[in-house]
Amino acid sequence: MMWKEIITGDFMEMNDCDKTSHAKSRENVKAGHLMPIMEEPNLVSENETQKMLIEDTYENNPNVELKIKDFNAYYGEKQVLKNLNFNIIKQQVTALIGPSGCGKSTLIKCINRMNDLVDTFRYTGGIRFRGNNIYDKQENVTELRKKIGMVFQKPNPFPMSIYDNIVFGPYVCGVPRSEWDTLVEEVLTATYLWDEVKDRLFDNAYTLSGGQQQRLCIARALSIKPEIILMDEPCSALDPIATAKIEDLILDLKKHYTVIIVTHSMAQARRVAKYVAFLYMGELVEVDESEKFFNDPLCDRSKDYICGRIG
Ligand SMILES: Nc1ncnc2c1ncn2[C@@H]1O[C@H](COP(=O)(O)OP(=O)(O)OP(=O)(O)O)[C@@H](O)[C@H]1O
Ligand SMILES: [Mg+2]
Repeated sequence: MMWKEIITGDFMEMNDCDKTSHAKSRENVKAGHLMPIMEEPNLVSENETQKMLIEDTYENNPNVELKIKDFNAYYGEKQVLKNLNFNIIKQQVTALIGPSGCGKSTLIKCINRMNDLVDTFRYTGGIRFRGNNIYDKQENVTELRKKIGMVFQKPNPFPMSIYDNIVFGPYVCGVPRSEWDTLVEEVLTATYLWDEVKDRLFDNAYTLSGGQQQRLCIARALSIKPEIILMDEPCSALDPIATAKIEDLILDLKKHYTVIIVTHSMAQARRVAKYVAFLYMGELVEVDESEKFFNDPLCDRSKDYICGRIG
């Protein structure tokens, strides 16, 4: 919730739980002291970037690719994401950062509805992809996952040839066989793998190095022509050289795709991401341009994280 709402009392749209904590905050304000969580001017729209990253909607700004709105997520009784409100901007790289367990992977999984498979998972609020709530009942999950591809922490090629890894998705989606060769070359070129593997396309994917396997997984994600690519710590199992190649690739991908990357490396977030969202214990502490976030963060908690005092 926004600081200005506490001052103005403008909290008509909150749920009961929010209103209770809000009322407590208001009492504290009246009493002349603030609750600790309110000491930081959290998420105030101070400028145009903040407005775009928090308040804009797809309807008034088509660059708002995803709008995460009043989003809460639970595993059983445990709430792991708390009232998240921020936007992901089209054809840019957004880094999700924060200490272990703060909910980064959970949020990524919510964006392509992978958590639907978890019995204890439930959510409130919504995630809008170009204006449509991905959790709407009429939303077709298979179609959604075609538009929102995912790359995992550990490279996970299928136990089949390099070529088959790429064409597996297109085959399932009904892309004609006559288009496969062109597609394979296209996505392997896009992931800088073509020159390395063009003479061994029918070797098992497990014969590739870890870094090559991860680029193959990115190529596989591209093969079904997604709009958004989610990457959950894609370099954490890789050496610095393989990491540099993936980072170059991410910078290339943003020309055509919207990329969300989870990373524990602040240097990496700085290098590849235009925007950064910092989560702490399931809450969004701050979202901003990465240059601004790392040089002059709004919140003390962000400063502590950047300096290594927390996390
Ligand atoms: N399937 C699940 N069932 C129950 N709890 C879960 C499940 N998945 C995640 N959690 C819990 O949700 C919280 C957030 O986990 P999540 O994996 O999203 O964190 P994270 O920020 O990605 O952490 P890390 O940086 O270590 O990967 C943690 O407390 C975790 O134990
Ligand atoms: Mg994680």
